[in-house]
Amino acid sequence: MDLFTGLLLLCSALALVSGAPAHSEHSAAEEGAAVPDRCDGIEFDAITPDENGKTFFFKGAYLWKGFNGPAQVSTEFFKEMDDTHNSGHVDAAFRMHSSKNPEDQDHMYFFLDDKVFRYYNLTLTAGYPKDIQEDFPGVPSHLDAAVECPAGECMADSVLFFKGHDVHVYDIDTKTVKTKTWSHLPVCTSVLRWLEHYYCFHGHNFTRFNPLLGDVKGPYPKDSRNYFMSCDNFGHGGKYRTPKCSEIKLDAITTDDKGKKYMFAGPIYMRLDTHRDGLHAFPITRMWSEMVRGVDAVFSYSDKLYMIKDEEVFIYKEGANHTLVEGYPKTLNEELGFEGHVDAAFVCPNEHWLYVIKGKQMLKIDLTATPRAVTEDLPIPLSDIDAGFCDSEGVLVFKGSQYYKYDSPMILAKGRMAPVPENITPDMMGCHE
Ligand SMILES: *[C@@H]1O[C@H](CO)[C@@H](O)[C@H](O)[C@H]1NC(C)=O
Ligand SMILES: *[C@@H]1O[C@H](CO)[C@@H](O)[C@H](O)[C@H]1NC(C)=O
Ligand SMILES: *[C@@H]1O[C@H](CO)[C@@H](O)[C@H](O)[C@H]1NC(C)=O
Repeated sequence: MDLFTGLLLLCSALALVSGAPAHSEHSAAEEGAAVPDRCDGIEFDAITPDENGKTFFFKGAYLWKGFNGPAQVSTEFFKEMDDTHNSGHVDAAFRMHSSKNPEDQDHMYFFLDDKVFRYYNLTLTAGYPKDIQEDFPGVPSHLDAAVECPAGECMADSVLFFKGHDVHVYDIDTKTVKTKTWSHLPVCTSVLRWLEHYYCFHGHNFTRFNPLLGDVKGPYPKDSRNYFMSCDNFGHGGKYRTPKCSEIKLDAITTDDKGKKYMFAGPIYMRLDTHRDGLHAFPITRMWSEMVRGVDAVFSYSDKLYMIKDEEVFIYKEGANHTLVEGYPKTLNEELGFEGHVDAAFVCPNEHWLYVIKGKQMLKIDLTATPRAVTEDLPIPLSDIDAGFCDSEGVLVFKGSQYYKYDSPMILAKGRMAPVPENITPDMMGCHE
């Protein structure tokens, strides 16, 4: 998804799920000091995701965890960053994900003056802080911002270090630095990679840029308060709603050929494979504009996404644009050779059999046949299934806030008893306990 669109989606999302809510027994707000309010429009010192994909925003002695919630004293979480410097002021931060060295992976790096601190699970790694150049030779001290940029988005797995208008591109494998000057970009006080796009924060605004050339496309700067935080009177902030896991009810779930995994519930969908940036819900119609009434079932077959609602089948091309294939929607009967309400539908990887769950039946359809028709109609020992998908590990079918796991579709049909259901967890769907 285009991230510009993503931000609009975020802004107008009906629900936005940003992981478990942040809370602390000693929230800074309770201490009565002059606690900054990010809705006043502040310039952040640093912004970075943690190892779980929650975005941390830093300002002076405070931090915010996630896109909503109060300021908290940052030394409650990163104790050592005060002991040494007595300031708590972070110049720059990023999360290392691409490193091939397992010791570095998913650690948060913080830069203060000429020192680097490395944390995992809020614990400082032994041996830190170090001089920046000991870990990152060729990178200057007193940085403004830092962000990781994996190969594919940059030339190689890299970290971009910002200082003034200079960008020091540090190659993680070769430990070499190339310096560029991006005078057209504002001086960034923090930079965030979020959902595969890059944001330079300056003042209370941000500008999205291309990490290779630094070029900016579109109407920037924009006010951060409309997009990256939940503020009254800004954007659609204040409408965050993280569902409880026990209240989840899916309409559909699917994994496409490229490993993108989507869940659908009411008017929203969520990408489940991008959990490193947190799980975020967006309106289905922003991506698949014809699906105005939601979906009953979704499956992926040969680079296309099949969406079923009532008696209609919509087929979308996968890829950047999600365009509806010409001539669609068609009726279920015309496209797949059966009628009636569909509860769930899935195709296993590298197979051409479609399994459709309807009530207490499972239909098997050969997708290579013309016309398509039901070849088997099997009773199943479950009913009221909401959604299901099949991947290399087997079949998962969802019923309310629980799911059942089977090694294959045939085991689902032939098993005489349902296995013990398991509960949907926060990690799976971004819900809270
Ligand atoms: C993270 O730290 C907490 C407390 O310090 C500890 O209980 C927990 O096991 C740690 N988790 C991991 C994944 O290391
Ligand atoms: C923020 O961006 C707006 C345009 O969207 C601009 O008018 C304003 O001057 C900018 N403010 C700062 C502090 O950069
Ligand atoms: C996607 O749509 C946009 C705008 O409609 C168009 O400019 C672009 O070429 C399309 N891309 C593809 C791959 O079809």
